[in-house]
Amino acid sequence: MASVNILISSVILTVIFVATITDGETTSKKKENKDRKQFSFTEKQRYDGWFNNLAHPNWGAIDSHMTRKTPPAYSDGVYMLAGQDRPSPRKLSQLFMKGDDGQRSAKNRSALLAFFGQVVSSEVVMASESGCPIEVHRIEIEKCDEMYDPECQGGKSIPFHRAGYDRKTGQSPNNPREQLNRVTSWIDGSFIYSTSEAWINAMRSFENGTLLSDASGKLPVKNTMRVPLFNNPVPNVLRTLSPERLFLLGDPRSNQNPALLSFGNPLLSHGTTWWRARCVRKKGTTPDWPTRAVPES
Ligand SMILES: *[C@@H]1O[C@H](CO)[C@@H](O)[C@H](O)[C@H]1NC(C)=O
Ligand SMILES: *[C@@H]1O[C@H](CO)[C@@H](O)[C@H](O)[C@H]1NC(C)=O
Repeated sequence: MASVNILISSVILTVIFVATITDGETTSKKKENKDRKQFSFTEKQRYDGWFNNLAHPNWGAIDSHMTRKTPPAYSDGVYMLAGQDRPSPRKLSQLFMKGDDGQRSAKNRSALLAFFGQVVSSEVVMASESGCPIEVHRIEIEKCDEMYDPECQGGKSIPFHRAGYDRKTGQSPNNPREQLNRVTSWIDGSFIYSTSEAWINAMRSFENGTLLSDASGKLPVKNTMRVPLFNNPVPNVLRTLSPERLFLLGDPRSNQNPALLSFGNPLLSHGTTWWRARCVRKKGTTPDWPTRAVPES
């Protein structure tokens, strides 16, 4: 009730206020209004997904629960893995996906489609990264698996880390474990521009409203400022290599494979070119370009 009262009084106040300013509006007041419009106090869409929907400002924000379309089916109803008695993912993968190399797609699709799909999913979901502490499970390997058990020793498995979750959930059947989305669920360019102000600031040149580019003007730059991109140990050298060899984009997973990285680059260049064009159109001359802003979605 109190909030309704506040709402009504603010509507009345706004009406009075508008009536006052329209009354004797001078040129300076007009300018003032224009400024007020330009620098409105309405919350702006943020990198972390807040305020895209002003009626539901937290919708799609990072660290929201993943949406469930069906009830959870944990084996204990709370948090334990289901399907321990079902065939292992490796077995299913061998059954369904194994085939001769070099066969073309029946629908003439190329690998581009798969990697574009990865970009789109990375843009809206990041939920399979392990939580802390790490919960390790095993994916069973059949004896004599051609890749994981070529010497037929048996008892082999692939380690599997369970996804991170909201620590306030998973304590009782009334409150089963809920996984979190660590990026915005909006298609707002978070794959390219990240979900945090600090991260995107590391990518900015703070000159002419542009992002950092290398000596020849190319994007993206290497991660010399050591932004926390995922940098898993490299299997063939058995250790972690320098994070500075990675390319810096908004998504920590962007260096995972060359195809994914290749997608990030044109998107980044396109976004930047589009932004430059918009600045020129808005401001006319380049020296006036804002030094901090980057494109909003
Ligand atoms: C795929 O490409 C081949 C050769 O160009 C063509 O004969 C075939 O009709 C195409 N298939 C589909 C589903 O478009
Ligand atoms: C910013 O714009 C000025 C004038 O166009 C130019 O001389 C300068 O090199 C630009 N700086 C960057 C980082 O692009």
